[in-house]
Amino acid sequence: MLKGGFMNSKIKSLIKNLTLEEKVSLCSGSDFWHTKEIERLGIPSVMVSDGPSGLRKQDYEAGENKVNTSIKAVCFPTAVNLAASFDVDTVKKVGEAIGDECQAENVAAILGPGNNIKRSPLCGRNFEYYSEDPYLSGKIAAAFINGVQSKGVGTSLKHFCANNQEYRRNSYDSRIDERTLREIYLKSFEIAVKESKPWTVMCAYNLVNGVQMSENKRILTDILRNEWGFEGLVVSDWGAVRNRVKGIAAGLDLEMPYSYAAYDKLVVDAVKNNELAEEDLDACVERVLEFVYKAIENHKDGVVWDKEEHHILAREIANECIVLLKNENKVLPVRNDEYVLFVGGFAQKPRFQGGGSSHINCVNIDSVLFAVQWNSKVKYEEGFSASNDSYDEVKFNRAVKAAQNADKVVVFAGLPDLYECEGYDRGHLNLPKVQNDLIDAIAKVNPHVIVVLENGSPVTMPWIDKVEGILETYLCGEGVGVATARALYGKINPSGRLPETFPLRLEDNPAYIDFSGDVTKIEYREGIFEGYRYYTKRNMPVLFPFGYGLSYSTFTYGKMTVETDEMTDDETLEVSVDVINESDIPGKEVVQLYVEADIPNSRIRRAARELKGFSKVSLDPGERKTVTFILDKSSFAYYDTDINDWYVEGGDYVIEICKNARDVITSRTVKVMPKKPKKPVYDENSVYKDIMEDPNAAKIAKPYFDKYLFKDPDTSSSDEVATEAFGSDPEIFLRDTTLRNVVNMSFGKITYEDMRELIDKLNK
Ligand code: BGC
Repeated sequence: MLKGGFMNSKIKSLIKNLTLEEKVSLCSGSDFWHTKEIERLGIPSVMVSDGPSGLRKQDYEAGENKVNTSIKAVCFPTAVNLAASFDVDTVKKVGEAIGDECQAENVAAILGPGNNIKRSPLCGRNFEYYSEDPYLSGKIAAAFINGVQSKGVGTSLKHFCANNQEYRRNSYDSRIDERTLREIYLKSFEIAVKESKPWTVMCAYNLVNGVQMSENKRILTDILRNEWGFEGLVVSDWGAVRNRVKGIAAGLDLEMPYSYAAYDKLVVDAVKNNELAEEDLDACVERVLEFVYKAIENHKDGVVWDKEEHHILAREIANECIVLLKNENKVLPVRNDEYVLFVGGFAQKPRFQGGGSSHINCVNIDSVLFAVQWNSKVKYEEGFSASNDSYDEVKFNRAVKAAQNADKVVVFAGLPDLYECEGYDRGHLNLPKVQNDLIDAIAKVNPHVIVVLENGSPVTMPWIDKVEGILETYLCGEGVGVATARALYGKINPSGRLPETFPLRLEDNPAYIDFSGDVTKIEYREGIFEGYRYYTKRNMPVLFPFGYGLSYSTFTYGKMTVETDEMTDDETLEVSVDVINESDIPGKEVVQLYVEADIPNSRIRRAARELKGFSKVSLDPGERKTVTFILDKSSFAYYDTDINDWYVEGGDYVIEICKNARDVITSRTVKVMPKKPKKPVYDENSVYKDIMEDPNAAKIAKPYFDKYLFKDPDTSSSDEVATEAFGSDPEIFLRDTTLRNVVNMSFGKITYEDMRELIDKLNK
């Protein structure tokens, strides 16, 4: 933020001049969306607003207290769609457009992006989050933030952290082991913080490992600021504050919204009674003021934004986010001269955004029926409502009847608004029964059925084998209808990829047992095996894997090259692969790079593979392009809780170029060694195997082990029964034996003192 220089000294002098009460008051909002003004010292107030799939700024003309009435704005594709684009340039464009809107509307920061991991497909806010993969989430979040902030407008990276469900969202405790927290739930934030420096981070409602996030000094200060170098403001989620005194000590700078000074007196008293250090309060005040003045300094008068232009942009962005899931017998694209029946209320009333604080008040919504008005070969039957799951037999039967005479039928299915929303989780993965039944019934009378889905997170598809085509449009923003029509008719070539696994059944999800339930402590027992890390490790069948998506083009891959076969973890590695468009249709391929540790004796549980690079390339017919990735330590490391740091275990790593998390196209193995190998620490509980696998330790320990009873003719048993019981190879039995057990069983040949001496030597 504004470090050094004039502004820094201005802020310091303001802090000196503020009374204790004024300082405390600055640490909470003045209303739902504004920071406080202190007229006496000329400290201005700035406004923040929701989003982030568009601008959701309160419309004050509707009334001061109408906090949920917002001005008209453009709704871009939701977070899940942006992640499905697998394209940082696309996402940055959305950020830039929203940045312009914020400038024009004098909004200092937009409250997003949401960067929580989709632990379960049931989370009611999954449409607001990017992915089940922290690397993809972090990169997409960083692109969004960089886009917005390039316009001199701040962002609020939320909800920090481990806020993965809506059930009891203000009070549940995410119980997560340290490695999992670091590798999965903090990782998406770490990448975004380091690569885009958000102006603000929003602390989540929940607790993490017993500590309310709004009081979590370890995460808000030790990790976020001290380890990752975050210099911005930490703001509470709306109503996330429980104990403001603890919050200030933990580094929670700004409480939102205004809590009617509920906590101000407590904070003032705490400072007066020396229960809260005034420096901690000053640090929060300084960051609030830095944010306010940064916003003021970056504000540009006279920025205008054109709703029509942004509407067109919303369509362009939507083009990048649609995922083609099935295309049997080349049922897609549909030809203009084919007689096509559109079925389903969503064709008329699309579902293109989710409910809750991200809901945009749109001006202009493209339905797919509007988008195909030019084509007289398209007929429409509602079949079922988009608003609920009720049956209407007349409509149902009319749709089935009309389907008999069509060349192709496109069913627009999806989740009605009530099925997924901020504030509550889903109970199942099913589409409304009426929709599944109608798809079934239509597939019986017409062999060429295409299903277009409008949903914020995975659904089951009991009819999957009965239809020829499936397009997943998620919640694609207000341009959804035009983008979908373009994809159906081949005006664009679908190029999105799933940013999450679609399981076959809810019960397959690794968080299934521990997710929600009637408890406040939510154990993340699946650990690092979250999302595709679990399905791939178990080699389980899924409906569609992470990273999956088809194209109308056919892509092939050339040889993969790696810069070297051996490296240390302080070096980088360049990996290249050629992609070729073998078809006569221009298209975009998403090249995905995963890394798999191939270390047979490893003591570290690793996922089968982890995404470490992706790149979307546009290829004309017959065109070949080389895609290059640079890998570094973070591509190979795991979080080691012995040393509390990232560590690369020495050994082989397979670099895989994949179509998706399950489909490896080509791979190369590289040996990566740690530059500074971790020094093993030995004690009484160290086992024979570990010591003997460490060449230095083995040399020192061998003479001791040689004295062990089975190797000593005096104590070795020649009894056949004993051999039967313990085997004829003493080493097998010895493998997992601790040093102290060796002492017990050596009949005095190895003493306790010998063991201490050995441990000392080993640790030297
Ligand atoms: C949500 C945030 C949102 C805030 C302000 C909270 O309930 O969790 O995502 O930014 O409200 O509307």
